[in-house]
Amino acid sequence: MTRKLPEQLRSHRWFGPPTMRGFGHRSRMRQLGHQADDFVGKPVIAIVNTWSEINPCHAHLRERAEAVKRGVWQAGGFPVEIPALSITETYFKPSPMLFRNLLAMETEEILRGLPVDGAVLMGGCDKTTPGLLMGAISANVPAIFVPAGPMLRGNWKGKPLGSGTDIWKFWAERCAGTITDQEWNDMEGGIARSPGFCMTMGTAATMTALAEALGMLLPGASSIPAVDSNHTRMAVDSGRRIVEMVWEDMKPRDILTLAAFENAITVDMAIGGSTNAIIHLVALARRCGVPLDLPAFDRISQRTPVLANIRPSGAFLMEDFYYAGGLRPLMAELGELLHRDAPTVNGRTMGENLAGAAIVNTEVIRPRTNPLAASGGTAILYGNLAPDGAVIKTSAATPRLMQHTGRAVVFRNYADMEARMDRDDLAIDENSVLVLQGAGPLGGPGMPEWGMLPLPKKLLERGVRDMLRISDARMSGTSYGTCVLHVSPESHVGGPLALVRDGDEISLDVAGRRLDLRVPEAELASRRAQWRPPDRRYARGYLALYSDRVTQAHEGCDFDFLTGTTETPEPEIH
Ligand code: FES
Repeated sequence: MTRKLPEQLRSHRWFGPPTMRGFGHRSRMRQLGHQADDFVGKPVIAIVNTWSEINPCHAHLRERAEAVKRGVWQAGGFPVEIPALSITETYFKPSPMLFRNLLAMETEEILRGLPVDGAVLMGGCDKTTPGLLMGAISANVPAIFVPAGPMLRGNWKGKPLGSGTDIWKFWAERCAGTITDQEWNDMEGGIARSPGFCMTMGTAATMTALAEALGMLLPGASSIPAVDSNHTRMAVDSGRRIVEMVWEDMKPRDILTLAAFENAITVDMAIGGSTNAIIHLVALARRCGVPLDLPAFDRISQRTPVLANIRPSGAFLMEDFYYAGGLRPLMAELGELLHRDAPTVNGRTMGENLAGAAIVNTEVIRPRTNPLAASGGTAILYGNLAPDGAVIKTSAATPRLMQHTGRAVVFRNYADMEARMDRDDLAIDENSVLVLQGAGPLGGPGMPEWGMLPLPKKLLERGVRDMLRISDARMSGTSYGTCVLHVSPESHVGGPLALVRDGDEISLDVAGRRLDLRVPEAELASRRAQWRPPDRRYARGYLALYSDRVTQAHEGCDFDFLTGTTETPEPEIH
């Protein structure tokens, strides 16, 4: 392997030349209190940190960045911490997904516009992982990801509580009148009790696991709880490693091949991962020039057993997963289903990284001889209601509803649903199909996680706990139920979902991978002719850019001008 020379570093273009500009760049770094030989000819490592005081999942990342810096210094690099958009899943409205591409753009431009030779990407709360990775891929400078890690288990009366999953579950009970005010208040105080991201197999735990499966994390890093001392040591090791990656010139697109993406999909299925991962993986792959389409997820799902017994598909939480061995033994168990020769950030192959990994608790991480489910948790559906595809998380659905025909009860948007769902005069029974329109990439906008539509109170009180629900929205990875999601094209742009009316018959056939609206084509053509696009919602700012350039769900919801591998020239330094 050829190693870079100090004068070949990107940062040397800023700090090396004996010119007036070079003087200016060096003098300003010395203004910060550094000696010239701290940073001239040394790998400058950007620690792109999505810490903020309004992001509880990243509350520890400020402190953890110091550990990364320690590693960078130890290895002879020069660390600079650079803050980036902290997309907090809980608070960012109208939908955090709107801002994933903004973080990606910010990350890309930080890594291209500044004197940076490599990057440590610090994130974990849902959209931050794909956002940071998308930016680093497009900048294509050496990068390693440091995941925030899951928070500790929630606790209520000694019982473990899982992020999201248990809120949905107990909210349904509260609506049904079986949970008191005091119990509900106690849960609120016990469900999130340490820094770190959601500790169910939601989007955060899924995406950091997939980042590891892609080869972008140190082995085993993704499942370490945020507050475990191993997390600090992992951060130091990542800081050390990125300096070497710079000398080796190991860049994201050297790692993120089709094999890496197939490994990620396989792991996604084996962990019963969030359906959001499908959108993010497609977006990441497109930035690498790797062709990845929805049928690949279905194909790999059918051959991959679900091994992680983690909520919402299973019973345990991420802390249990870590104590059971974490992601390495789960991946080792997948054996020939993975490309073991795929490269990873530590310079070894995936197979080498998995050697010797053993499951500690076979209830939490199941062996292939005793899987949670024989095949993966996701099915891709097509049909006249979803010509470009739709997604269902079968591992979190009710088996009897996976073959179901019922009459549609249609809500035009979320507000309409909120206003009418609990009305006594809503004509609905347990066989009805709940349809939510106006919740896609443009309609939501940002595909809010509304896909697990609430059930009507009157049916909850009768003991109904699941119904078939269909939307162009996403669903939180912590959610569950028979929910068909990501219907593409979305209703906002006139996709067939926009044409559904109350009383229409809809058929779901998961085994046959079909989703169909049983309305005569002539009638659909007439409705299509009457359909009018909604008024433009955003006339200014980032949301106007988003509205103009975002792609549909099956294309990854990236901006059309950011997909692909077209190079942006290195900045000229004058
Ligand atoms: Fe941050 Fe769930 S709210 S990961």
